[in-house]
Formats: sequence, C-alpha cells, structure tokens
Amino acid sequence: MAIRASVFIAASLDGYIARTDGGIDWLGSGDGAEDYGYSEFFDLVDVLVVGRNSYEKVLSFPEWPYGEKKVVVLTSRPLSVPAGREGIISSSAEAPEILLNRLGAEGVKRVYVDGGVTIQRFLSAGAIDDLTITWIPVLLGTGIPLFGPTGRDIFLRHVRTRAFPNGYVQSTYEVESPVPVTQS
Ligand SMILES: NC(=O)c1ccc[n+]([C@@H]2O[C@H](COP(=O)([O-])OP(=O)(O)OC[C@H]3O[C@@H](n4cnc5c(N)ncnc54)[C@H](OP(=O)(O)O)[C@@H]3O)[C@@H](O)[C@H]2O)c1
Repeated sequence: MAIRASVFIAASLDGYIARTDGGIDWLGSGDGAEDYGYSEFFDLVDVLVVGRNSYEKVLSFPEWPYGEKKVVVLTSRPLSVPAGREGIISSSAEAPEILLNRLGAEGVKRVYVDGGVTIQRFLSAGAIDDLTITWIPVLLGTGIPLFGPTGRDIFLRHVRTRAFPNGYVQSTYEVESPVPVTQS
C-alpha cells in the first residue's frame, strides 16, 4: 500500500498559521474540552514530518506534545535533540518524494506533515494526499501563510465540513491525483 501524507492544521480565516513572529496565542481561544478531532487523527499517523521552524516552536512548549511518536525534522542545518529523545527524533533534508519513499520502505503507512513552508513544499511536489484545515474566525492581517506559490493548479475534492459551536469550521479535502509515491 502506498504511504499517505496528511495535513491537519489550524489557520486564521485569512490563511495564516502563526503571527509573523511565530506567535500562536490566537489559537488558544477554543473550547478547552474539544480537540477538534486532533487526537483521533494523531492516533492514525505513524510518523510526524515537521519543518524546523515548527519543531523549534514545539520545543518552547512546557511539554513535548508528541509522546513516543517518531518525528522527522526537515532542516538543512545540524539539529539539537533534547536528551532522551534521540530515538524518536531524527533530522532529514530529503525532498518530499524521497523521504516518503524511504519511510514507506521502512513500513510507515501514514505521515502527518506540519509547518507552513513544509506543507507548501510537499504540496508543490504532489506529495500530500489529504488536508484537514480548521479555520479560526480571526483575521490576523499578516503572518506565516499556510499556502504559497504552487507552480500549478492543485485540485482538491471536498470530503466533509463541520462547524463547531465556538465558530471554528473544519474542512477536509483530498488532493486529486497527487503524484504517486510508491515503495521502492
Ligand atoms: N496553526 C497551526 O496549527 C500550526 C501548525 C504548525 C506550525 N505552526 C506554526 O508555523 C510556524 C512555522 O512555519 P514555517 O512556515 O515557518 O515553517 P516550517 O515548515 O515549520 O519550517 C520551515 C523550515 O524547515 C526546513 N525545511 C523544510 N523542508 C526542508 C527540506 N526538504 N530540506 C531541508 N530543510 C527543510 C527549512 O529550515 P532550515 O533553515 O533548517 O533549512 C525551512 O526554513 C511556527 O510559528 C509554528 O508555530 C502553526
């Protein structure tokens, strides 16, 4: 079975995933008892593939949020890994299709791709299969964008949309005909 690459992310209504300085304080206004399907999604993925900027943001959190899940940090620079986590965090500078082929050959079935630049690179490479975006009803005006230049049209098939009582609206899309990634 081909490996599946999924995006699960929150964005402001005007398409930003963080403030220009990386701030995500505006994400904290949700209903604390509701996780918007995050843990159900997270349980389904084998590996998290995350851009360096997002990884460094996560390192600033009081607690490591990914448990024992394997994490591949995409970076072109040497990476420091917190003590005790060397077995689950690795770094890579592989192109999306190369990385997915390698992980697929290692038996990985589904990856969670995170970080704005990283998601954009994977989309441009035709390496994303599905996206779940939770739209937060706020206009930030500026910030780190979820999407960017793609080099071509990328058509999506709408799977479902659900609205939460607090105004968050979550839509899932499948990418039509992503470039097939096969196990080597
Ligand atoms: N709203 C949300 O749900 C959400 C979710 C995730 C993240 N965020 C926020 O998004 C912000 C970060 O997003 P971002 O767009 O700045 O970037 P990002 O995707 O997290 O990181 C981008 C960096 O990753 C490295 N990279 C990516 N692909 C690579 C490859 N194939 N080879 C080598 N290096 C690669 C590069 O760093 P090097 O300089 O090392 O080459 C690149 O500058 C953070 O503030 C984070 O908190 C928000």
